[in-house]
Amino acid sequence: MAFLQLFHNPQIPFDGAITGGLQDGKIIIVTGRVLPGADSICTRDSLETSVITERTILLTVNGCHLMDYKHRIPFNTVDTISVGGKVEVFTIQSSFMPAFPLQPGFPYPGFPPAMPTVPYKGVISGGLHPGRTIIIQGIVSPNASRFHVNLDFHNGTALHYNPRFHENTVVRNTRVGEQLGSEERSGGMPFHRGQPFTLIICCEADMFRIVVNGDQTHDYKHRYTPLQQVDTLEISGDVSLTSVLL
Ligand code: GAL
Repeated sequence: MAFLQLFHNPQIPFDGAITGGLQDGKIIIVTGRVLPGADSICTRDSLETSVITERTILLTVNGCHLMDYKHRIPFNTVDTISVGGKVEVFTIQSSFMPAFPLQPGFPYPGFPPAMPTVPYKGVISGGLHPGRTIIIQGIVSPNASRFHVNLDFHNGTALHYNPRFHENTVVRNTRVGEQLGSEERSGGMPFHRGQPFTLIICCEADMFRIVVNGDQTHDYKHRYTPLQQVDTLEISGDVSLTSVLL
């Protein structure tokens, strides 16, 4: 998916320009969490995910189709997204779906995107670089023992991020060839059995900054620095996925 625009941790209420305005095939993805006591949230142009088509705005929440909303005004006059209410927002991003033929009615071929399956493997095109953000949404299995998220290069893993439920901790490590490094285990355990989560891994110049459900829970200083060689995301273990944005 071609990435166009990203707002990080915007202050709510939020108003932001949609670069190029709404266009046929544009997707707007808002990730965040509803705060306690909320009775409603409104996003004037999107809820969680909107795909704009010639006829409708297709709304999905947590990867599931919620409703179609027929355009009442020419959609190409819409140039701003607003988000308000008792909600914490991690990211707002817009991108384009790959081209697909429009047909009357829903679903359209190729939409909604298939739910990612576990074990998951995805290519990070061009590899990592500072500023690159990976967003993973999923649900921990009810009887989970462990799962992991790996950022891999050709013969190793730059970041092994491994929530372990029996140990109530997240183990982080790096592997080069057969050689595992020393584990990092400090920080909290933000994952819970049976619960949904949003995991954001921000690649920065010196470290990975890791945000879970809006809290920065861990950081991990780079041990493998040819970042552009880190080109594969792999997720495995006791988890299901609702969306992965690379
Ligand atoms: C090992 C475990 C591996 C990996 C590693 C992290 O004990 O077998 O799967 O999690 O710890 O250091």
